Amino acid sequence: MGWNSWNTFGCKVDERLIRQIADAMVASGMKEAGYEYINIDDCWHGGRDADGFIQADPRAFPSGMKALADYVHGKGLKLGIYSDAGNTTCAGRPGSRGHEYQDALTYARWGIDYVKYDWCDTKGLDPASAYATMRDAIHRAGRPMLFSICEWGDNKPWEWAKDVGHAWRTTGDIHPCWNCEHSHGSWSSLGVLPILDKQAGLRQYAGPGHWNDMDMLEVGNGMSEDEDRAHFSLWAMLASPLIAGNDLRTMSEATRGILTHRDMIAIHQDALGIQAMKWLDEGDIEVYVKPLERGEYAVLLLNRGDLARNHRLDWSFHGMKDDLSGRSIDFGRERFAWRDIWSGGTGSTATALATSIPAHGVVVLRLSPR
Ligand code: GLA
Repeated sequence: MGWNSWNTFGCKVDERLIRQIADAMVASGMKEAGYEYINIDDCWHGGRDADGFIQADPRAFPSGMKALADYVHGKGLKLGIYSDAGNTTCAGRPGSRGHEYQDALTYARWGIDYVKYDWCDTKGLDPASAYATMRDAIHRAGRPMLFSICEWGDNKPWEWAKDVGHAWRTTGDIHPCWNCEHSHGSWSSLGVLPILDKQAGLRQYAGPGHWNDMDMLEVGNGMSEDEDRAHFSLWAMLASPLIAGNDLRTMSEATRGILTHRDMIAIHQDALGIQAMKWLDEGDIEVYVKPLERGEYAVLLLNRGDLARNHRLDWSFHGMKDDLSGRSIDFGRERFAWRDIWSGGTGSTATALATSIPAHGVVVLRLSPR
């Protein structure tokens, strides 16, 4: 859990912004809710010195990265940085190709805790070996750093990255919209539903220490409150990293309430680390289930459609069987008490669930055996 500069600030990053975001992460209650990393994305780079060591852009980071890391650590938070396996980053700054060990050593000296490693300008590189080189370089540098693989799912990282990085992007870049593709010419960024649909078949690859990354959050970046709540809940259910991408200094109370929602975060952080599965698919209504510790479950009802829906779920008509976790429920025999974590409502699986789901919205229940 953390924050990343890219979705809101793009290339406009500097040390003043990062310090203010660290302050806001504490003041807003996000740190207390579990957010830890402050990640500087693309464009922090200056050039390389005569020996090939990378420098921060001296205009944007005049005090240097070490001083910034000290400031962030002083707040009880961690600092992340961005590089690229190719010659240049996606925004054209120096990449790490041929400088992997130097760059990892530099990050370690600065006190960096997280490395996001992108895949632009990598012609001729084999992804599994390029990412393994940076993994080995980080290991050799001797400072623990979370290693986040960002090659957009192009080369099926879920099949080779379990022992290479701690998370891997499964898709191209996110865009703050519900069900759209936003064209940038040669590539498109994707809304909430297109990213969700690309997770099909990937849940068996995720688990503690190696996660499917659905990209950074767009909560607070222009979607409706129902859409933001659904986006956040889906990312939490699917055990994706929760990396906020909004301006924490100026966010609304509604945005803060979504990002710091204790019960949703508790489901995300459940120690079993089992990614939710799609349980029922009824067109616009889909139901996801995430097995939790102590025989509990999180159940999310998603309304993909443009109209609010009254939905009836007769639990006893549907068995739930999950081959991955080896868990199953026969609702005819087993009873659960549920709590609607966003509304606070309560009930039991002994009777059918009659619920109203907003357009582009979710209802999330936490089921406890009784
Ligand atoms: C790629 C990544 C994004 C972001 C930009 C920065 O598009 O997927 O997350 O890091 O590069 O240029």
